[in-house]
Amino acid sequence: MKPWETLDTATAPDGEALDLRRRGHEFLIRAGGYDLMSSEDDGSSKALSSLGIGALGRPAKHVLVGGLGMGFTLREALDRVGPEATVEVAELVEAVVRWNEGPLADVAGRPLEDPRARVFQGDVGGRIRHPPQPFDAILLDVDNGPDALAHDSNKSIYSAGGLDAAYGALAPGGVLGVWSFSDDRKFTSRCNRAGFTTQVEKVPASRKGRGRFHYIWIAKRR
Ligand SMILES: C[S@@+](CC[C@H](N)C(=O)[O-])C[C@H]1O[C@@H](n2cnc3c(N)ncnc32)[C@H](O)[C@@H]1O
Repeated sequence: MKPWETLDTATAPDGEALDLRRRGHEFLIRAGGYDLMSSEDDGSSKALSSLGIGALGRPAKHVLVGGLGMGFTLREALDRVGPEATVEVAELVEAVVRWNEGPLADVAGRPLEDPRARVFQGDVGGRIRHPPQPFDAILLDVDNGPDALAHDSNKSIYSAGGLDAAYGALAPGGVLGVWSFSDDRKFTSRCNRAGFTTQVEKVPASRKGRGRFHYIWIAKRR
């Protein structure tokens, strides 16, 4: 098997070391010495958009995706909205945006080049608290899951206060989609307490539909 080649290294705002690796056609982003994501694991990232936008039951005009990763969620969202829609992606790490403009651009079909895509470089939590307009869907994949946080700073996004902010940032009938590595009943209860009607879907991690599963909350604003 070919060895991994390190293409670039970067430091996240919280000081965590990130690197981008390639082996043949596969790319890997590592954070703090652990695998954050592989280009092979696009199934659940895409399902976050297909399930979230699908649950709206009407065309989406404004969608917020957090974060960019390798661009699969963003790509799928763009493929599911009309020509007049905008899909904003909030990404905390400047290098991740740069990698998606460079070596990762083709991994998800060059989503940043789509004129409907907008990049907000910063914390998606801040964007939710101060939305530029109501969003029809907010699709979150910024950590391992609501209670399995790699970044303590993301805790507030999944907290009761974060869910209240997401509820307020959504248009009536809007959808909050949340990706997670594992199921979490307490988070489902928090979503319901915030006023959402909540469903949890178990989806294959990879595009091949084999192996591991991930979880996606589809929380609909009433
Ligand atoms: C697992 S990746 C997302 C994968 C993505 N679903 C895809 O389709 O490739 C998580 C991303 O969220 C970013 N991130 C982490 N915390 C964030 C935050 N608070 N705001 C915005 N982006 C964040 C990370 O830098 C990383 O790019």
